[in-house]
Amino acid sequence: MKKIEAIIRHFKLDDIKSSLTECGVEGMTITEVKGFGRQKGHTEMYRGNEYAIDFVPKVKVEVVVAEDKLRQVVETIMGQAQTGQMGDGKIFVSDLSEVIRIRTGETGKDAV
Ligand SMILES: Nc1ncnc2c1ncn2[C@@H]1O[C@H](COP(=O)(O)OP(=O)(O)OP(=O)(O)O)[C@@H](O)[C@H]1O
Ligand SMILES: [Mg+2]
Repeated sequence: MKKIEAIIRHFKLDDIKSSLTECGVEGMTITEVKGFGRQKGHTEMYRGNEYAIDFVPKVKVEVVVAEDKLRQVVETIMGQAQTGQMGDGKIFVSDLSEVIRIRTGETGKDAV
């Protein structure tokens, strides 16, 4: 299994959620985060305000999927999240060793 962590712009969240649901993603976790990328020391716009970078608010979307869904999920997030402007975000992919569904005790792919 793979864990995909995507740092995205807030206003893209609804579209990303719908598109991921359409491609069969069964669950996700959302966190409000703050961070910075390569433009540290410069500024970035967020909801009409200019942030001295420092830390800019973003949303982190975490999705765990079976390996055969990885490409589709990454391409979907890319397609929805990209504006072409600095600050579009990043996608981190890592191997995940286990998933356990608490209600049933199922593990692995069956539990995702
Ligand atoms: N190397 C990193 N490690 C952890 N988080 C990161 C990293 N790079 C970016 N992020 C997170 O992603 C958010 C968005 O990054 P951002 O899109 O500005 O990256 P970038 O490399 O500066 O690309 P761009 O030039 O398109 O702005 C950051 O606010 C931060 O939360
Ligand atoms: Mg940046």
